[in-house]
Amino acid sequence: MTSTATTRVLTGITTSGTPHLGNYVGAIRPAIAASREAGQQSYYFLADYHALIKCQQPELVHQSTLEVAATWLAFGLDTDRALFYRQSDVPEIPELTWYLTCMAAKGLMNRSHAYKAAVQENTDNGADPDFGVTMGLFSYPVLMAADILIFNAHKVPVGRDQIQHVEMARDIAQRFNHHYGEHFTLPEAVVDDQVAVLQGLDGRKMSKSYGNTIPLFEDEKKLRKKINKIKTNLLEPGEPKDPDDSALFQIWQAFASPEQCAQMRAAYAEGIGWGEAKKQLFELVNSQLAAPRERYNALIANPAEIEVVLQKGAQRARTEAAPLLAKLRTAVGIRPLG
Ligand code: TRP
Repeated sequence: MTSTATTRVLTGITTSGTPHLGNYVGAIRPAIAASREAGQQSYYFLADYHALIKCQQPELVHQSTLEVAATWLAFGLDTDRALFYRQSDVPEIPELTWYLTCMAAKGLMNRSHAYKAAVQENTDNGADPDFGVTMGLFSYPVLMAADILIFNAHKVPVGRDQIQHVEMARDIAQRFNHHYGEHFTLPEAVVDDQVAVLQGLDGRKMSKSYGNTIPLFEDEKKLRKKINKIKTNLLEPGEPKDPDDSALFQIWQAFASPEQCAQMRAAYAEGIGWGEAKKQLFELVNSQLAAPRERYNALIANPAEIEVVLQKGAQRARTEAAPLLAKLRTAVGIRPLG
C-alpha cells in the first residue's frame, strides 16, 4: 500500500515508433528526473495496446516496444523505485476498459480530437466520414482512462494534445463513482511549460506522425547527418541571426546549460554560420547521448534482460491493480454465485 502522502504520477508512451529527441526532451527526461523525487510514486509504461490503433504492422510494434523499453533503461530509470511495465502484461487494464466503456457516454467520445480529426480528413476528401475509423480509434480515450484509473493516479504528465483525454478519464471516473460508489481518484493532467516541445527537421513539431524526427540512438554519423538536415534560412555567415526563430537554437536550448545558451545567443548575434551552429549542436547533443547510446545498444542486444525487468514491473503493477479490480467487479455485480 502506498501511503496517503505519496503522489502517484503515471504516464505512457505508445510503442509505434523509434524514440526521438522530442520524446526524450519532452517526456522521458523530465519523467526520469521526477521519478527520483521523494513523495512521488511513478508509473511509467509502454502503451502497446495503444500502438495497435495507429500501427498494424506487428514487427514494427514489437521492435518499437523493445526500443522504447531500452530507451528508458538506458537513461537510467530506477525500476526498483518506479513501476515500469508493459500495458499488455496487466490484464486488469483491458478488463477495466470494458467496465469503463459501459459508463462512457458515446457523445463524450464523439468529441475526441483524434476521432474528430479523422472524420474531418474524410469529409475534406469527400469520403464517408467513418472511412478507416476503427472502434480502437473511437474508444481510445476509454483505454487511456483505464490506464490511469487502474492505479488511481493523481497526476498525468502529458503533452498538450493529450489534456483532453485526461479530462475524459476524469469524466468517466466521475460517472462511475456516481453510479457505483467512490472507487476512483480523479486524475489531473500536468503540462509543464518548462519542458520543450522540439521542432523537427521541417520546423513543425517533432513527431513520428510527421516523419521529421531525429532518432535518439542512431550512430554518430547518422545523428550528424540528421542535424545537418534541420531547416535554416538563407542568411550567410557573418549576418546576424535570430535565435528565437531557429529550430537549431531551440534544440540547443533543450540540451545546453544556461551559460551555453547565452554563449550561443551571442554567437547568433555575431553571425555564426549555420554550418558551424550545426557542428556545435551535434557535438553538444552527441556528448550527452554517447554514454546512454552505449547502454542502449547493449540492452537492445539483450532483449531477454529487458523482458525480466518488464515482468518484474508487471508483477508489481498487478499486485496493485488486482485488489482494486476485484472491488470493481463486485461493485458492478460480477461475482461468484452462492
Ligand atoms: N495516448 C498517449 C500518447 O499518445 C499515450 C498514453 C496511453 C498515455 N495511455 C496513457 C499517456 C495514459 C498518459 C496516461 O501520447
